[in-house]
Amino acid sequence: MRRILVTSALPYANGPLHIGHMLEAVQTDIWVRFQRLCGHDCIYVCADDTHGTPIMLKAQAEGITPEELIATVGAEHRATYRDFLIHHDYFHSTNSEENRELTARLFKALDRGGYIHRRTIRQAFDAEAGMFLPDRYVKGTCPRCSAKDQYGDSCESCGATYAPADLIDPVSVVSGTRPIERESEHLFFRLAAFEPMLREWTRSGALDKSVANKLDEWFDAGLRDWDISRDAPYFGFEIPDNPGKFFYVWLDAPVGYMAASLALANEKKLDWDAWWGPESTAELYHFIGKDILYFHTLFWPAVLEGSGFRRPTAVHAHGFLTVNGQKMSKSRGTFINGRDYLDRLPPEALRYYFAAKLNDGIDDIDLSLDDFVSRFNSDVVGKLINIASRCAGFIARSGGRLATELPEPALYADFAAARSAIAALYESRDFGAAIREIAALADRANQYIDTHKPWVAAKDPARSAEVLAVCTQGLNLFRALMMYLQPVLPNIAAQAGKFLGKPFSHWDEVSTPVLGTALLPYEILATRLDAQAVASLVQPVTQPKATPVTTPPPSTPEKTPSVTAPTEQPVATPEITIEDFTRIDLRTARIVSAELIEGADKLLKLSVDLDGSIRTIFAGIRSSYEPASLVGKHVVVVANLKPRKMRFGVSEGMILAASDANGGIFLVTPDAGAGAGLRVK
Ligand code: MSP
Ligand code: ZN
Repeated sequence: MRRILVTSALPYANGPLHIGHMLEAVQTDIWVRFQRLCGHDCIYVCADDTHGTPIMLKAQAEGITPEELIATVGAEHRATYRDFLIHHDYFHSTNSEENRELTARLFKALDRGGYIHRRTIRQAFDAEAGMFLPDRYVKGTCPRCSAKDQYGDSCESCGATYAPADLIDPVSVVSGTRPIERESEHLFFRLAAFEPMLREWTRSGALDKSVANKLDEWFDAGLRDWDISRDAPYFGFEIPDNPGKFFYVWLDAPVGYMAASLALANEKKLDWDAWWGPESTAELYHFIGKDILYFHTLFWPAVLEGSGFRRPTAVHAHGFLTVNGQKMSKSRGTFINGRDYLDRLPPEALRYYFAAKLNDGIDDIDLSLDDFVSRFNSDVVGKLINIASRCAGFIARSGGRLATELPEPALYADFAAARSAIAALYESRDFGAAIREIAALADRANQYIDTHKPWVAAKDPARSAEVLAVCTQGLNLFRALMMYLQPVLPNIAAQAGKFLGKPFSHWDEVSTPVLGTALLPYEILATRLDAQAVASLVQPVTQPKATPVTTPPPSTPEKTPSVTAPTEQPVATPEITIEDFTRIDLRTARIVSAELIEGADKLLKLSVDLDGSIRTIFAGIRSSYEPASLVGKHVVVVANLKPRKMRFGVSEGMILAASDANGGIFLVTPDAGAGAGLRVK
């Protein structure tokens, strides 16, 4: 059993998580879930990155303390991760006691080792606000090309780099006044002292090729001392024995990885030194975006080495997420918050799409919304879930129990044998290739069912054993596929495992098929994505640039209510056969509850009992019925209607009603005495 500690980069606590953050969290979470499924001891920690000038100023602007700000944002972050099914063993904050103590401990060790020195620097100072200004908080005219409104470190127009003092007409972003220059003593970390170690570590397999080459460029440019202190006022940790000086946020942020695992170790009585001690044999992986490589591949290993801890086994960087081929941008309307996604769509759809696109490289990854809809609907719902829903019905009708042997064990053996190749792809973070392997198997499973057509055999009572055999084979192929997708689709897989009477707990369980077991009633595992809901994720922004992203998108019109709505004018409907009619599963049902829906003036949300199974149905009958008057009433329901995702939830059927020319709606009710669940024909 391997002992593994995994982290994702710590998101800044100054705003909501967006789906770019989720790309990283999903990548990490899939890898971690895969390791756990293989039986390894794999721990996943993360935290909010809470310190620094932007957070301090944002709290000021909102009239609250930084502690209040990071508490609110922290709660939001946790909820968003949870709802995307990101399974952290611990989610901490860098503003914690564990982090304060560890940061001080690392700093003292570096100081003792002679890696810290002091030097006086000149820096822009806002005399009105009484604070030193980070380069980005000074704006002005570029000294080279005269472009206006450029940041204090570089010009976006001509690419020049310079110091804030070089700007023509520099202005403090904080107070709008002209900054002055002021001297201050800062603490520096001697990065260059670690060059030999870093060169060796870089080539030890800790980095992917593309990244290692990047590091060579940085070595060639020379490793410069790193300024690790900031002057008060600063929201962060004060440096021990250096009153008025604070640790720069990027010093205590990665220590947050250690602090989060320390909090976990304290809570669960685990051995923290076994992860971080110099003799550790555990594996340590950091998953990050390519923009923060310098911090993780140079500063961080050097700080760890200099303070007597182990170095990361590897740092895994990914590219940036773009939306419809464009950088995520608030002004273009391509910026998608995690919560806005979750309000409209299921988390596993995005997890699947990210998995299908991820690999071990640092190229950017595009979320094309049309592609997203068709991939999920055709691969997951059309190919995968369809196998289960097709087979489940036939097995339910033939006693609800799987056959005791497979008709084609060789085909199953092929599926089971794929597990080592797929495992290797997960291990190497080539998730896209893993998904392609799984999709190819799903095609074979569908071919098998299409060839054996259980729906034809099912019409002949003499062929019932054949139907059972084919569906038992089909469901076992489905089970193998679900097992392989468990790291990506954890909830759907768990539900599938339950339905098959045997939850998945280990990757190798796929080697033996499930036979002879009773199936639980089949419940819908996933439904098609609604293209309109997906499209509503991106809204062209018509307001000026400053529009906050939180502006709710214009509401989508209510969908056609789930009630049969005969037109006023009788229209000629084409003739159908009795077989056509019997394909409609009409059932009597009892209304258990009826509720108004906020924001919907035509719909009611009904729960109906079809003799034991409870369904949610959205029906457009609000104009004619008071919710309370409906409870206990018997109605007729189309029970095999494909579930539909509506704005307010999934509707799992349709209620029959007649309507007249004046908009009156009349529910069709069975004669008194009929119970629930009777077949109507
Ligand atoms: N707080 C630092 C990280 C400290 S780690 C000790 C930070 N925070 S961040 O919120 O800006 O970014 C957190 C992570 O999300 C980073 O790994 C970053 O690369 C990643 N992403 C931010 N935007 C992203 C995309 N658009 N696409 C993919 N990942 C993105 O950096
Ligand atoms: Zn310029």
